[in-house]
Amino acid sequence: MSATSPLRPVLPPDIRARKGGTPLVVLTAYSTPVARLVDPHCDVVLVGDSVGMVIHGLPSTLGVTMEMMILHGRAVVRGAARAMPVIDMPFGSYEESPVQAFRNASRLMAETGAPAVKLEGGLHMHDTIAFLTARGVPVMAHVGLTPQAVNTLGGYKVVGRDEEAAKVMADAGAVEAAGAFSVVLEKVPEGLAGRITEKLAIPTIGIGAGVHCDGQVLVVDDMLGLFTEFRPKFVKRYAELGRTADEAIATYAADVRARAFPAPEHAFPDAAPARK
Ligand code: KIV
Repeated sequence: MSATSPLRPVLPPDIRARKGGTPLVVLTAYSTPVARLVDPHCDVVLVGDSVGMVIHGLPSTLGVTMEMMILHGRAVVRGAARAMPVIDMPFGSYEESPVQAFRNASRLMAETGAPAVKLEGGLHMHDTIAFLTARGVPVMAHVGLTPQAVNTLGGYKVVGRDEEAAKVMADAGAVEAAGAFSVVLEKVPEGLAGRITEKLAIPTIGIGAGVHCDGQVLVVDDMLGLFTEFRPKFVKRYAELGRTADEAIATYAADVRARAFPAPEHAFPDAAPARK
């Protein structure tokens, strides 16, 4: 996308305006073909840093780099004609200071053509989100379970039960006050997610946060049954593409070993066919 390209059809204010309306539909994508599949059905296509685990086989999202996000971000922006792409800021690219966050967020936007970024963190990210939004970087925030903090949280646990609830509520309030146009609530108890959704004027997008949120997001490879290494309770499998692919590959291997593939229709005859 260049400075002379037309504006994208869906922009952050359109997503913000969907508060309390028909639920927002969000899926991740990391490639052009998957973005093309997701695009007609979704409001937002998230280039999540889950790409590190799902596509690159990393043990967590901590090893994801700016270069990975830019490469996958460009591919997704190419495939998403309508749905709004949002690019995750990788671990280490924004926590140091608002200036560092702006340098990397503006790079993600300029080099991919995406109109928004997402970053993890609540109250402690208030000043950074305010700095970014005041300078033309729309921010989707992410509170509750923040996977980049897995080592300090002690695992991928539900966040916000009992006395933790007030902290998650304060985090959500802080990112709204800082100017975020929406907020992901990950692995937050359903009742708390409902209370946050009622309180905030920006849309909440839940993942493992129950039905009361203003929208839902899933990792596309999880819901298609392509990423099967582990399966959180909040994932509903809408297809078993991993199993289908395994069966297809096994059949191909058997065909090759039995010389049943390629068949004559997949081969080229020595003499060119006569022209009519
Ligand atoms: O990285 C990601 O895919 C995410 C979603 C799960 C919200 O942050």
